[in-house]
Amino acid sequence: MELIDGNKIAAALIAELKAEVAQIAGRKPCLALVRVGDDPASVSYVTKKEKTSAEIGISSNVILPPVTISHGELIALIDRLNADPTVDGILVQSPMPKQIDEVAIFRRIAPGKDVDGLGTMNLGKVAQDDETGFVSCTPAGIMELLARSSTDLKGKHVVVLGRSLIVGKPVALLALQKKAGANGTVTICHSQTRDLPAITRQADVLIAAIGRPEFVTADMVKPGAVVIDVGINRVPDASKKSGYRLVGDVHFATVSPLCSQITPVPGGVGPMTVAMLMKNTVKAFRLGASTD
Ligand code: GUN
Repeated sequence: MELIDGNKIAAALIAELKAEVAQIAGRKPCLALVRVGDDPASVSYVTKKEKTSAEIGISSNVILPPVTISHGELIALIDRLNADPTVDGILVQSPMPKQIDEVAIFRRIAPGKDVDGLGTMNLGKVAQDDETGFVSCTPAGIMELLARSSTDLKGKHVVVLGRSLIVGKPVALLALQKKAGANGTVTICHSQTRDLPAITRQADVLIAAIGRPEFVTADMVKPGAVVIDVGINRVPDASKKSGYRLVGDVHFATVSPLCSQITPVPGGVGPMTVAMLMKNTVKAFRLGASTD
């Protein structure tokens, strides 16, 4: 079994981006990070995005509207950021409070600034194998991890566990694309799928993105499979100072001995998500407003 080291692969990408940004004379790329409310996981993710931006030389503009912000007010904020020529990329962290229609917010972001890749135009471009748009960060990070750890999906059975807008659906489309590294045979499973273990056991590459702690157990995995664990779940643990520990969607202790390769949690997909956001922000800066 080989561990896929997301920290190491992300660090290499970040170093490349840092060198690229250092060459930019004048105004540097700028990323607006919007976090509504104080969800503890979101606080941690947005802080990480802010720190990584600073490390690369991307300026970040963190905006923290109150949890009570109305949907209309958040739309107005997006419109202001869309119109601001000094802002290259916009990310509104999910989850958002329940008065907000999250998909409508993703859709409102100008396609040329949608570095999160969750708007209609950019998701559509993934379906069309059009590389001029922005691929959402976690799916792009998964493809980069696979490519940089020598897994070619061509002809392989890729089973995606989860059909979310942020991970499951776009990663399935990417694995299916007609391009080098992709060309997978893709099955998407979800909460209504019958006899799930029978399907996951067929996976050459299993991508677990359902947000249920340690859901994937050894009986669900084919020996020799590549397992990508997208879950980042906090489970109570009194022995930790924080009061919790992080686990993935895969029961690592029992599944990892079976796999040819597996991503750990933390240190697998998570750092790649941040690195791909940075890559998209530099791309948005380079393209200016010309991608719409
Ligand atoms: N929350 C967890 N992952 C993501 C992501 O990729 N984008 C946004 N906007 N929110 C998230």
